Amino acid sequence: MSKFAEQGPEGRVIFSDISQSLLDHCRAAANAEGLLDRCRFVLAPADQLAAVADASVDAVTTRSVLIYVKDKAQAMREFFRVLRPGGRASLFEPFNVLMSADPDSCGHRAHGTHEAIALPSNGR
Ligand SMILES: C[S@@+](CC[C@H](N)C(=O)[O-])C[C@H]1O[C@@H](n2cnc3c(N)ncnc32)[C@H](O)[C@@H]1O
Repeated sequence: MSKFAEQGPEGRVIFSDISQSLLDHCRAAANAEGLLDRCRFVLAPADQLAAVADASVDAVTTRSVLIYVKDKAQAMREFFRVLRPGGRASLFEPFNVLMSADPDSCGHRAHGTHEAIALPSNGR
């Protein structure tokens, strides 16, 4: 919620998840901080964001979500579709050595985390 302050008085956030209870938690947190009118809540999987218009958001961010998404390429296409030109994506995922076909390939970072900033290409 503190990120709202960095967006100025016009900043708005769309919370999306497949869990209604998670969205209810976000709604309660936003309400507690008087920010509900700047929030929208979308019950949808990351690879089916039809409720979010094309080129309508400045940033997409996920944390520990993509590991659960079966069609990760489609999720990336959806993130790219909803981002405005020049928009950014910040994707944070944990390494999970137990799900790797080659646990040794994870080496010493097997229990660490990885964060990437993805900048859309083609001028977007
Ligand atoms: C480990 S929790 C992380 C929650 C939150 N992002 C955080 O960092 O605290 C994983 C979240 O991914 C959501 N999730 C699982 N599969 C999903 C999917 N296909 N599309 C969108 N969200 C999904 C779950 O409902 C859950 O809220």
